[in-house]
Amino acid sequence: MIIEPIVKGVVARNSHPAGCKQAILNQINYVKTAKPIESGAQKVLILGASSGFGLASRVSLAFGGASADTIGVSFERGPSDKGVGSAGWYNNIYFREQAEQAGLIAKNFVGDAFSPAMRAQVIEYIRAEFGGKVDLVVYSLATGIRPNPETGEMWRSSIKTVGEPVTGPTINIETDTMEQMTVGTATEQEIIDTEKVMGGEDWESWIEILSEAGVLATGCKTLAYSYIGGKSTYPIYHQGTLGRAKTHLHTTSDKLNEKLSAIGGSAHVSVCKALVTKASVYIPAFSPYILALYKVMKQQGTHETCIEQMQRLFSERVYTSGVTPIDSERLIRIDDWELDASVQQEVDKLIAKITPDNFAEVGDYEGYKTEFMQLNGFGFAEVDYQTRVDFDSLTQLQP
Ligand code: NAI
Ligand code: NA
Repeated sequence: MIIEPIVKGVVARNSHPAGCKQAILNQINYVKTAKPIESGAQKVLILGASSGFGLASRVSLAFGGASADTIGVSFERGPSDKGVGSAGWYNNIYFREQAEQAGLIAKNFVGDAFSPAMRAQVIEYIRAEFGGKVDLVVYSLATGIRPNPETGEMWRSSIKTVGEPVTGPTINIETDTMEQMTVGTATEQEIIDTEKVMGGEDWESWIEILSEAGVLATGCKTLAYSYIGGKSTYPIYHQGTLGRAKTHLHTTSDKLNEKLSAIGGSAHVSVCKALVTKASVYIPAFSPYILALYKVMKQQGTHETCIEQMQRLFSERVYTSGVTPIDSERLIRIDDWELDASVQQEVDKLIAKITPDNFAEVGDYEGYKTEFMQLNGFGFAEVDYQTRVDFDSLTQLQP
């Protein structure tokens, strides 16, 4: 069969395996030539390893100097009668192939990272086949639902404001149009539920359970990712429900840092740059900011994608010979280039100009859309999309 992209709104409904492989190769090639991680993690567990920042962390730690063995947990769909499957499914497979060719362990667990069963499987694997301990745990889940571990009922996050509603334009990738929409105000319950899904509770629980199981090495570090963003985005992000959840994550990192200090370890949150990922395109009224940011950072030569961000994080922040640089709230700032004053000034000017008629010229819509399509394996010059893909051989591929 020939695989054509299917996009509904801002959600990709399929992926191209050959393009996913190309994306993995490109990320590996990048970190091999970038400033290396001098010495760092050897045994890493990544929760949310199949795309975005989690995948980039995995590639960076394996191929960017540290030669780490990795365990990746993710929630992805393989090929079935419903279709070819998700990009993350193939990312897991092709990452493992490349890592194994390089003599590294790359174990994939596909399933619900929130479940007790997943914790048990991962611990069992660490003990039996991964040398008994991990020295880094990366928490990079992004999702809209989390089961309550006590009742099994679902908490659902809401991407809403706290206080006043905000009306702003948002991109529809399917139709290449910008539509006005209103981001409503969250109820108290919606704020709490969003904290449950995207805050630090599950991260803390993972670290507790790994610690009790005795599988955290002396000096073990843990990291989670956050976003703060430019002032123009505060009403929809930093001061909204997602920002509340991130504040909870930051507080959790302080707690975990205390806990891990007992074994000479640490916990940090790294604040990252706004990027096109499966998760971020979903944030209403956020796209004009990303369009403007991409335009300005590309002009200034400071644009990074997930892989550049993660390689810089590990080589210049987390695994440096000195102490990890942090801000007054103990956050690692790898969003420094995004928040550069000259960048933000230019971004504000562009956002003021963006309308549904001119967004593709004023902002970097081409870059936005290209990155989105490539996340799903489409639009790589190196891939011949007219070559037929054999569905049966796809079903033979195992994570
Ligand atoms: P993503 O959507 O690319 O990756 C999310 C990962 O979580 C995937 O591997 C997915 O399979 C996994 N996942 C989701 N639900 C799961 C479940 N129940 N069980 C197991 N795995 C599950 O998202 P992205 O953007 O990489 O987000 C990761 C973190 O980075 C989030 O905390 C996000 O807030 C943060 N971040 C994102 C920014 C952006 O602009 N994209 C900016 C700054 C921080
Ligand atoms: Na991720």
